[in-house]
Amino acid sequence: MVSTTARFGNAIGVFDSGVGGLSVLRAIRAALPHEDLVYVADSGHAPYGDQTSAHITQRTLTVGHWLAEQGVKAITIACNTATVVAARSLREQTHLPVVAIEPAIKPAVALTRTGVVGVLATRQTVQSESVARLCAQYGQGKRIVLQACPGWVELVEQADLHSARTEAMLRQFMEPLLAQGADTLVLGCTHYPFLSSAIQAIAGPDVTLVDPADAVARELARRLSQTTPSRAPAPGTTQFLTTGDVDQVQQTVAHLWGPQAKVAAWASN
Ligand code: DGL
Repeated sequence: MVSTTARFGNAIGVFDSGVGGLSVLRAIRAALPHEDLVYVADSGHAPYGDQTSAHITQRTLTVGHWLAEQGVKAITIACNTATVVAARSLREQTHLPVVAIEPAIKPAVALTRTGVVGVLATRQTVQSESVARLCAQYGQGKRIVLQACPGWVELVEQADLHSARTEAMLRQFMEPLLAQGADTLVLGCTHYPFLSSAIQAIAGPDVTLVDPADAVARELARRLSQTTPSRAPAPGTTQFLTTGDVDQVQQTVAHLWGPQAKVAAWASN
């Protein structure tokens, strides 16, 4: 059982449905090398993308409130699905800065030369009102094709990034977009950057992949510079917790982050 005292005082809390948010965490680590980071992989409740909005909201609030109780100074939602469904609810319920990732439609529209942008994301994300709003606001008359990619999150959770099965599953959802002339693909789920070399190999060198993780890290740094004093120049710590099977998540985190990463069980009280 975890003590209710501020266990992660002054750290930055980062969470996702699973290991995908590590793609955001690495951008945060690069941008803020002196900050302590605590990452929660909500793997016991993943994937979010196939669940109801009520369930995703409940998980986002549960993990967000828990991080706040542990004393974190900011929360990063490293999950597009949780952002488009529940970021507003979390922001309404916490005084902490909440920085959240969402599909990078605006930069993709600026990059396309063919006028066709593909958005690869979870079912919940492509069906969300938030993404419809982003398309309406930033579409500038370009064609934006939204593509749900069920199964891709599970590939990353299993660290299955380069197998024949993975290539077949990537082709299944990429080929319709490429056939429609998409030259810019938004990685609209934080798991997908771990598939980016396989995605790029299928798409070819003329297709641009867009991942907003660096922009999220910059926004987090900007928000922190407004609200908290800067840290002493010692390297920050990085802690990993999961609501899922610790051994299985440990294996995947070691593969995606590095063997030095140690995953512990998350406890809600
Ligand atoms: N990484 C989450 C996202 O960015 C994946 C959601 C899921 O678990 O389906 O959307």
